[in-house]
Amino acid sequence: MKRKLLVPIVVVFATLLTVASSFYILNVYIDKKNADTLDHALKGLIDLQASAVYNSYFAWTKLYDLAAQGNLADAYNLAKDITTSFPLIDSVEIDQGTPPSENYVVTLDGELLRIDYAIRDDDELNTVPNTYAVTIIQARKVLNFIAPNQYKVDPVRGRKSAYGIPITAQATVFSATNILIICVISILIIWLLLQSYYKKSDFFLDTRGLESIIYLFEQTEKASASHSRNVAILALFVGKLLKFSGKRLKNLYVAALLHDIGKIGVPTNIITKTGKLDSREFTQMKQHPVISARILNSFKEFDRLSDIVLHHHEREDGSGYPEGLKSKDIPLESKIIAVVDVFEALVGERPYRNPIHPSSAFEKMKQMPLDQRIVAILVDHYGELGSFKPPKWVLSYSPWMFSA
Ligand SMILES: [Fe+2]
Repeated sequence: MKRKLLVPIVVVFATLLTVASSFYILNVYIDKKNADTLDHALKGLIDLQASAVYNSYFAWTKLYDLAAQGNLADAYNLAKDITTSFPLIDSVEIDQGTPPSENYVVTLDGELLRIDYAIRDDDELNTVPNTYAVTIIQARKVLNFIAPNQYKVDPVRGRKSAYGIPITAQATVFSATNILIICVISILIIWLLLQSYYKKSDFFLDTRGLESIIYLFEQTEKASASHSRNVAILALFVGKLLKFSGKRLKNLYVAALLHDIGKIGVPTNIITKTGKLDSREFTQMKQHPVISARILNSFKEFDRLSDIVLHHHEREDGSGYPEGLKSKDIPLESKIIAVVDVFEALVGERPYRNPIHPSSAFEKMKQMPLDQRIVAILVDHYGELGSFKPPKWVLSYSPWMFSA
């Protein structure tokens, strides 16, 4: 119960944390990129305004002459339409004082950009020595002009942009919209992860559970201990040679692992009998594929395998059981299990007889009503079995198989 709750909780928190962190890092990266562009645009726009104002008004002999004569009122009258020509500029003044040595100098005063200009003649050869002009621009207006409603001047937490203007982004990383996006992405990922986890978990638990039943079953019948595991690995080996992959290969393996599980429903004295079975006993024995199929049907993870195990004793000529199907009606997976089941029965250790050498087993099998294409594949590739590496998801293996 604790484990059941722990995994979803860890998945939920880990996913939320990962998605939110990724989102934050992505935002920081985008902000950094945007900030560089913004700084550049801001400086460009301020310089453009300042140089345009300087060239249009303060490098002008007419205004220069008035200022040089000390007639600042008339000089101002010439310059006052700057605020109309340049809407970003809020005010203009011409005062007495030391002019800047450059054409203009930009300084920041709180949230206001102050641009001081030297007043020169048309040729820019002479400068009024004790007079300067000044225009004021609200930094906020320049920001809004470049990126409307995206940034604000923030003297407390803002980062220093062009001419030291302190700027922060209007939208926070964790705005309502972003939180919604984070939640939707996280829910999707959590759903996919938990789906995959529970699927694996169900498969693992069901398989382990059934494997344990097989183990217990094998303990009651030592003669065929490891038989199912050997058959499963052999079926896997043949399945791979037949180009089975993915789910189909896994299904073949699990079906082979569980093919004789129905022997649980057959009296032990019949299962363990070393002599020939009489007809009544044989009739009971022939029920084991039916019981195997019934058991698998009761596990939702394995119900699709019930047909395979039901027919693992069918034979090509219809002489098999329980339904006496002929070749074309027998599932390929059942035919594979039939071949490797017979092979394992012939070469495996049994207390009542010595194991047969594989080459003798193959000769016998060539005479049996088994699918001879599958027999031929096993015969042709048997030498490769020792180096066969089962997939990682294989739950058990037989030491016998690896010493083969
Ligand atoms: Fe069987």
